[in-house]
This record gives sequence, C-alpha cells and structure tokens, in this order.
Amino acid sequence: MYSVLTLNPIAKIGLARFPSDRYRIAGDIADPDAILLRSADMHKREIPASLKAVGRAGAGVNNIPVPRMTERGIPVFNAPGANANAVKELVLAGLLLACRHICEGWDFARQLSGTDEEMSKAVEGGKKAFAGSELAGKTLVVIGLGAIGRLVAHAGQALGMTVVGFDPALTVEGASQLSASVKRVSTIDDALKHADFVTVHVPLVDATRHLINADRLGRMKPGVVVLNFAREGIVDEQAVVAGIDAGKVGAYVSDFPTNLTRQHKGCITLPHLGASTAEAEDNCAIMVADQVRDYLEHGHIKNSVNFPEIVAPRTTAYRLVCASLSTPDTLGQISTALNRAGLKVQELVSMSRGELIYTVADLDAAPSPSAVGQVAAVKGVVMARPIG
Ligand code: MLT
Repeated sequence: MYSVLTLNPIAKIGLARFPSDRYRIAGDIADPDAILLRSADMHKREIPASLKAVGRAGAGVNNIPVPRMTERGIPVFNAPGANANAVKELVLAGLLLACRHICEGWDFARQLSGTDEEMSKAVEGGKKAFAGSELAGKTLVVIGLGAIGRLVAHAGQALGMTVVGFDPALTVEGASQLSASVKRVSTIDDALKHADFVTVHVPLVDATRHLINADRLGRMKPGVVVLNFAREGIVDEQAVVAGIDAGKVGAYVSDFPTNLTRQHKGCITLPHLGASTAEAEDNCAIMVADQVRDYLEHGHIKNSVNFPEIVAPRTTAYRLVCASLSTPDTLGQISTALNRAGLKVQELVSMSRGELIYTVADLDAAPSPSAVGQVAAVKGVVMARPIG
C-alpha cells in the first residue's frame, strides 16, 4: 500500500488514477511515499524519510526545494504542457485587454448613471478616451518557446500578428513543433527591439530574474506592452511602472498583483488565473498522477525536473532503482554489491542528469533488505529502493 499526501486540492479525476486498493490518499499523512501539490510552499517543510516522489500538478516548481530533493534521491515530476492551452487563452485575453483599453472602458461603463438615454449620450461622448489599436499587423515577441510559448506564438499568428520568438534552450522536439513562420532570433535583445507586445514564458530561475528590466525596456519601442503570465520576478515591475509613468511602456499585464501594480494606471493584474480552468486542473492532475504512479510501481521517470528520463520495460519481476551523485565507479560498486548479495542483474539501465545518476536494475530474485542496504551503503548512493 502506498500513501500519497496532497498539499493542495488535486482534481478528483487525477486522484482516481491511484487504485484505492493500493493507494491511501489524504491531506494529513505523516509518512507519505509521495506528495502531490499545486502551489503549496514546500521550502520550509520537513522532508519525511518515507518520501519517494513529488508531483507538481502544474508547470512551475519554484515552490519546491528541488536541490534538496535531488540530494535525497527524490524525483520531482511536473506537468509540462498540461495547462498550456489555459495559459495561452488568458494571454490572448491580456493582449486584447491592453490594446483595446477594455478595463478602463469597463470601469467607465460601470460608473455610468442616469436614464438609458443619458447613458447613451455619455457613452458617445466618453468613448474616445478608450480608443485602442488592433493586434493584426503588430509584432508579438515571445520569450520562451516551451509548450505555452509555442501555443501563444501560433495564436498570435492566427490573429494576424508577426511573431518573433527567442528561446536559447529550445529542444529539437520543441523546434519541430514550432511553425516555421515564427521568426526565431538568437539573442533576447534582437527579439525585444521588434516588440509591440512582449510576453514571457520562462521559469523563474536566477538567469531569468528581471529578464525584462529598465535597461531592456529603454531599448524597446515606445508604447510596448509587457505581459507576464509566467512568474512575478521575471519582470522588474519597478522598471515597468517607471516606464509607464514616463510614457515609454504602453501597459503591463500581469498574473501577479503586487502593491505597486494592482492599482497603478497602465497595469492590469489578475490573481494568478493562467492555469485556473477545470480542463487544465484535470489535465495536470492526470498527468502528474500517472507519472508518480509509474515511478512508484516501476521506477520509470517521465517529466521530472531533476531526474533523467527512463522508461524501461520490465524484464524480470524484481527491480531495484537507485540514485547516486557522481562519484567514480559508483555503478561498478552497485553491481558488485548486488553480486555479493547473490543477485544476478538481468538488465541494467543507467542515465545521468547533471550530477545525478539514476539506475534501474532488473534482478533474478527479490533483493533482501540487507542487499538493498548494501547498495544504499555504496559511496555516492543517495537512494536505493526495491520494487516488487
Ligand atoms: C504553473 O506553474 O503551472 C502555473 O503557474 C499554474 C500554477 O501555478 O498552478
């Protein structure tokens, strides 16, 4: 029986992927095999000794102490792409809100009073203050061409926009899914100089903090609209607000309200709604539940942010998985420990990601607790787990 601790409500359809005769799922389990979460902050939480896997029902993992998990040999899974359509649709809404001054116009309409005839007069007199511009023919710059960035790029094209994309980390598979008519450039500054609208779709890491900053804004076209549906720190909002005040930035549309932005003229903020659709929540929950289950039951790794991808069909009924941090000949020593324990390795697959090596060994017999202990004692091994 596996125990799964949920730190946030996870869509029922996802939890249903765990058969109830083999999984206990609750929000108050002290010794979980796996944790499922959305935005709960794990940074200050104790990591239970029992923990084997973490599943983030979403894309961003900045609420999870990933390096600490790696040190303990715990894979962190996420759900890339599962909420991409939801985010794309809200980005499209953001583009339209900004260029047609919809929020200001709506505020104006809501404060109208008098008879319908009086209102109609006020509307005709007042509407010129909210005249906007069209998206067609404008240039949309997309920073980050992962699942969300690509969908946004294609939607921008469908609206008649010229789309320029920048992503130094674009995978071959990602590139193959990107329309050839999205113009890719090799530096961010090359991309930004074209922008009438710029939208960011990158994770928040040291290299992306304040990616859009005063210096870069200063070199962009006057009136540029900045959209941030990724993470708060990616845009230096002091710089954006200063740009709005100086008439240089047209608008800032963000999914992350702060005291500086939430009521500032020219800022449109939403309460982190990008992925908040029933469909996205279901997709994320299903994807991450399947991945966590496949890891617990077979040791397979799919869509982990810290472990290498391994899906190895089982060749025997007994499997041992282990994670080690690069030290010379760890693999040889693991094989020796298994041999010493009288176990024959039928199939062994090992892959590395950064410092971490993940190994899946199919054995001719079930490893005893002492055999698992011998593998766990090999220098560099941070996790060894038998799978029956
Ligand atoms: C994500 O990281 O997937 C989105 O920002 C939505 C969320 O935080 O769940």
